[in-house]
Amino acid sequence: MTASFDRSVKIAPSILAADFAAFGAECRAVSDHGADWVHVDVMDGHYVPNLSFGATTCAAIRPHISGIMDVHLMITPVDPMIESYAETGADVLTAHLEAGPHIHRTLQAIRGAGMRAGLALNPGTPADAAQPLLDMVDVICVMTVNPGFGGQSFLHDQVSKVADLRAMIGDRPIHLEVDGGVDPTTAPLVAAAGADVFVAGSAVFKHGKADAPEGYGRAIADIRAAAEAARDAA
Ligand code: DX5
Ligand code: ZN
Repeated sequence: MTASFDRSVKIAPSILAADFAAFGAECRAVSDHGADWVHVDVMDGHYVPNLSFGATTCAAIRPHISGIMDVHLMITPVDPMIESYAETGADVLTAHLEAGPHIHRTLQAIRGAGMRAGLALNPGTPADAAQPLLDMVDVICVMTVNPGFGGQSFLHDQVSKVADLRAMIGDRPIHLEVDGGVDPTTAPLVAAAGADVFVAGSAVFKHGKADAPEGYGRAIADIRAAAEAARDAA
């Protein structure tokens, strides 16, 4: 059942670092230049100290994304909002383990609404916290920064957590995603530890613009090559 599960390296540009006045064009630009997933950071100014956008924006950009739309909710409460994100066409909906008292119920509700369920772990949350939830998740997202802002420095102390989660996942069909401070110098560390989905905001979007997207393509290829080389060497 899991033999064909796709653990290849996947790059997920985070549009938090894109031009907010040109989201459609930015999503098309990265989709056409190597992005496997597009990562969409929803922040409520309450769970995290920053506000981005919500379901209306997700629905508006969905037609401009050709791969997976990976929505990362940094909001609380989550449960009342799940149906509205299902209606946006999100493929993956990720909630934080720390964002409410009933993460088990939240993950059930995300799958029940027809999406893949993602579980994000803050830097202060141990890998073991995911153990009871492994049969309920499709993606585990290890935060390699504290959530709330793009452009922060990668937290090296999270690499061992990625390795612990990779061992815990075993043959289960669960993607292991890393989010925050990922670039060609840090991607190899988490690739060797077992990550397969690499979120990169500033490391992609600082290298181009929607009407000159070749730089995005090079940045995505550079992160992919660095991650794949580290895997081969591991
Ligand atoms: C942080 C977000 C990240 C962020 C990554 O709260 O979840 O997805 O956009 O941005 P970079 O790659 O610039 O650290
Ligand atoms: Zn994110």
